[in-house]
Amino acid sequence: MEKIYLSEIENGTPIAYDLCNDKGTVLVKKGTQITEALKKKLQKNNIIFLMKDTSPFDNLENSMEHLDETVINQIQETKKVYKQTFAQLSREFETFKSSDRLDKKMVADIAKNLVVSISNNQQVYMSIQGIRNKDVYTYLHSIDVSIFMILFGKSLQLEASEMVDAAIAGMLHDIGKMKIPDRILLKPKKLLPEEMEIMKKHTIYGYDILKNHLGYSEIIARVAKEHHERMDKGGYPNAVGWEKLHLFSKMVAICDIYDAITAQRIYKKPMLPHKAIEYLMTVAGIHLERELVRKFIYNIAVYPLGTKVLLNTGEKGIVININKGFPLRPMVKTTDTNKIRNLLIELTVFIKEVLE
Ligand SMILES: [Fe+2]
Repeated sequence: MEKIYLSEIENGTPIAYDLCNDKGTVLVKKGTQITEALKKKLQKNNIIFLMKDTSPFDNLENSMEHLDETVINQIQETKKVYKQTFAQLSREFETFKSSDRLDKKMVADIAKNLVVSISNNQQVYMSIQGIRNKDVYTYLHSIDVSIFMILFGKSLQLEASEMVDAAIAGMLHDIGKMKIPDRILLKPKKLLPEEMEIMKKHTIYGYDILKNHLGYSEIIARVAKEHHERMDKGGYPNAVGWEKLHLFSKMVAICDIYDAITAQRIYKKPMLPHKAIEYLMTVAGIHLERELVRKFIYNIAVYPLGTKVLLNTGEKGIVININKGFPLRPMVKTTDTNKIRNLLIELTVFIKEVLE
């Protein structure tokens, strides 16, 4: 359940999801435009926030009936690890917020567990959906970026020890945000220029926290400082050249952007992966390095498990398996005829469109 305060919803915004009260009763139907009058009506009934029922596994669970047992087991396993990771990491971040202490061994263990779990359940990790909820934003975003870093690391064939460092770097890249005042960090509207300047400082704070305060390696600290730098020198804090950045910083820059555009938000549906990948390719060569973006995409599910698709044969179907290394050619189960079509074998069949 995701909590949304009425004050956060701008008038005139059509809501992308059903919203309910804390008992689960639907109060505002999907597609409704929020107006001042409606807000007043809700407030009169002492309703100051609504809940959106979401989890990163929603899209997978909606298509469970079509998936085979091995995949369902992988989903259950992944869910367990993801939940545990979230609980542990939130606890670490909360402790850090209140006492400036962080259990580095715990963080390393979380990263190692994720690396192992992703190796066993890669296609599920490729298919979970990022979620944006301001209350837990930093925590979930940190896990998502960490997962992307591991998948990316696989494409780049990083060594096992580098992989754990890449995962930790992804997990801690935004730790500097803990030093940004809530009125800016949680502001639902666009930041004013002077607020943006403060927000940008999370990079510098992050470096200082990781390097000087927690004693992390220069590499992990640099990622916090460098992950908003861009190839055209349009980034911050130092607008340095791309060639000066550490590989992990460039990787987080890509994961960070991808996660931001594919995550669900209150007002809009997430950009679907095939669209997000198209977007990444258009900024590749300008803000980001083309070759690296290509490698990143290699381990991203263009069509995640559970995606409803239309094939060029005219059949509708659901993606039930992702063929490793062939993101455009998954295994599809047709919905009317229950036929399995493995696009890796049936080379004349391809996905024409994603059905929403
Ligand atoms: Fe950041």
